Amino acid sequence: MKILITGGCGFIGSHTCVELQNAGFDVVIADNLSNSKEEVIDRIEKITNKRPEFIKANLADEKECDEVFNTFSDINGVINFAAYKAVGESMDVPVKYYKNNLGILLNVLDNMQKHKIKYFVQSSSCTVYGEPDSLPIKETSPVKDATSPYGHTKQIAEQMLSFIVGKDIDAIALRYFNPIGAHKTALIGELPNGVPNNLLPFITQTAAGIRKELKVFGNDYPTSDGTCIRDYIHVVDLAKAHVVAMNRLINEKNKKPLEFFNIGTGHGYSVLEIINSFERSTGEKLNWSFAPRRAGDIIQIWADTQLAEEELGWKAQEDIDSMTSSAWNWQLQLKEE
Ligand code: UFG
Repeated sequence: MKILITGGCGFIGSHTCVELQNAGFDVVIADNLSNSKEEVIDRIEKITNKRPEFIKANLADEKECDEVFNTFSDINGVINFAAYKAVGESMDVPVKYYKNNLGILLNVLDNMQKHKIKYFVQSSSCTVYGEPDSLPIKETSPVKDATSPYGHTKQIAEQMLSFIVGKDIDAIALRYFNPIGAHKTALIGELPNGVPNNLLPFITQTAAGIRKELKVFGNDYPTSDGTCIRDYIHVVDLAKAHVVAMNRLINEKNKKPLEFFNIGTGHGYSVLEIINSFERSTGEKLNWSFAPRRAGDIIQIWADTQLAEEELGWKAQEDIDSMTSSAWNWQLQLKEE
């Protein structure tokens, strides 16, 4: 089986290529390298002893997307990662986000219909839930109004799929919680562009001396230690969930043409607990201080993982210290380059 991975050179995409190849799939990566490096393909080959096929393409461009599907006529399924993903930037340039993220989705689905490719896995996000009314959050919980164009593109993508699937496409949308960590070889990991927005890259860059100090946004939230709580998930566990989802579609085990699954660990950690884990697992001392709340942050969220466990037979394996230490090993490797 050959799977097209859009955005396959990115953080989650690259780890998913590794797990798919380890599971015996052939992989084609289509990526425009706007937020990633082609060298990732060498790294995937190094880890798996198999080189994924690669085509540089901007899938938001109809012609370029058509060319990808015309070049690789033997694709059986698609996993769609290609998207802009910076929440803050999406507030500044919303049209760019809608055009890119939804343009890619439509061009890909159009080609899937034309080429009779049935299996589609969409990269979605727990951001669709907004601030939860009760925890842990279930897939049946209401989707709340989006608080950013980025989050809105994830919601619209799910809604569009609900009307498109059925006749010739079956889809699974995986709602990721907070992916962190890196492959144990430290050959692939997260490569943030400029100053990181996300917690873990900011922590590792601060410990590496690239940033002076981590600012912990808010210490007066109604949580056990006053800082926000998230469900952090190891990117390798997340990558494996994609393999399981694709196999479910291929083996026609899906119960509906469009299914949604939470992909998290089911445990919430506060920002201070993440700092503690980082210091414990790496032996590094982190320079940090409290700062005001960041606009738009929800207070706390973690996943109800029952559906993924029962239906997909998937459960996260890696603990929090393995997540923070692997992120650090990746940062150390980057420093050596
Ligand atoms: N945080 C800090 N200091 C920092 C960065 C983050 O204290 O420098 C805190 C945030 O306030 C938050 C927690 O760390 O409490 C996690 O923040 P991230 O930015 O790492 O992650 P978010 O939960 O805000 O957002 C992530 C992704 C989004 C996605 C969302 C829900 O970045 O793309 O999860 O899926 F939409």
